[in-house]
Amino acid sequence: MITDEIKKLIDIAAEKIHGASHVVALVGAGMSAESGIPTYRGSGGIWTKIGEPDPRSFQNFMNDPKLWWERMLNPDLVNEESPERAKFTKALAEAKPNPGHFALVELEKMGKLDTIITQNVDGLHRIAGNNNVAEIHGNRNYYRCLDCSSRFLRDEFTIIDIPPKCPNCQGMIKGDGVMFGEPIPSDVLARCITATQNCDAMLVLGTSGTVYPAASFPTEAYMNGAYIVEINPERTPISDIVTTQIAGATGDILPLLVEKIREMG
Ligand code: APR
Repeated sequence: MITDEIKKLIDIAAEKIHGASHVVALVGAGMSAESGIPTYRGSGGIWTKIGEPDPRSFQNFMNDPKLWWERMLNPDLVNEESPERAKFTKALAEAKPNPGHFALVELEKMGKLDTIITQNVDGLHRIAGNNNVAEIHGNRNYYRCLDCSSRFLRDEFTIIDIPPKCPNCQGMIKGDGVMFGEPIPSDVLARCITATQNCDAMLVLGTSGTVYPAASFPTEAYMNGAYIVEINPERTPISDIVTTQIAGATGDILPLLVEKIREMG
């Protein structure tokens, strides 16, 4: 429901984003909720249902990459263990971009969005058509070499040995998705930090603001004097430092916001 109050907040945010020189979007799972992918926390969240993964997931992988790969290549094994996990994986595989994603494509085309920093692994921003996307938690459609950071589209990668070796450097290959306990890949992290430091406006879209280092970016932008607008039906720890908090769904609000910015020329 777009109330008059929300319309006023959208007008304020449009004015600020239109007048900004370097806009960054920090995106969380809420952005893809309208694409049918459950969020992680809150009601209906996958972690709410099945609990968070083991914080040593990455260490477990490094201790026995062969076991991880055997499970990865035999999804029925994993799906039998957790029907909820199977549903989540299916939703990820079937998801399509929603109006919120397409609104950010328009914003980038208008030259009003420098970078999307997304915590989502669904790849929907790239599928929708955004080019400047930093996937801080990786992208489920890719494999990544832990030694040389090369990335390979899963659908185009031929697995001969288990665990597979990197075709470029013979290093260790894993899913690009960042595991619990795994450091954020340094190339992506550097990009996120630079974008955050350079921005004078930040859109915070559908994130609970609880997982670091992504959750630190709005505070850093705020400390640098950036304008911050949050779009989320719920309040979050970030809400206290944002300039404009719009209580709504990104799929509803972003198209209206981008339309307003477009009208400003
Ligand atoms: N529009 C906007 N926000 C929404 C919508 C929507 N339609 N639906 C839900 N939300 C909000 C929720 O209110 C919540 O604040 O999206 C947020 C989702 O929070 P989380 O489920 O915690 O997702 P996120 O913040 O992305 O989690 C960060 O945690 O486990 C890790 O790797 C995982 O990337 C994830 C990270």
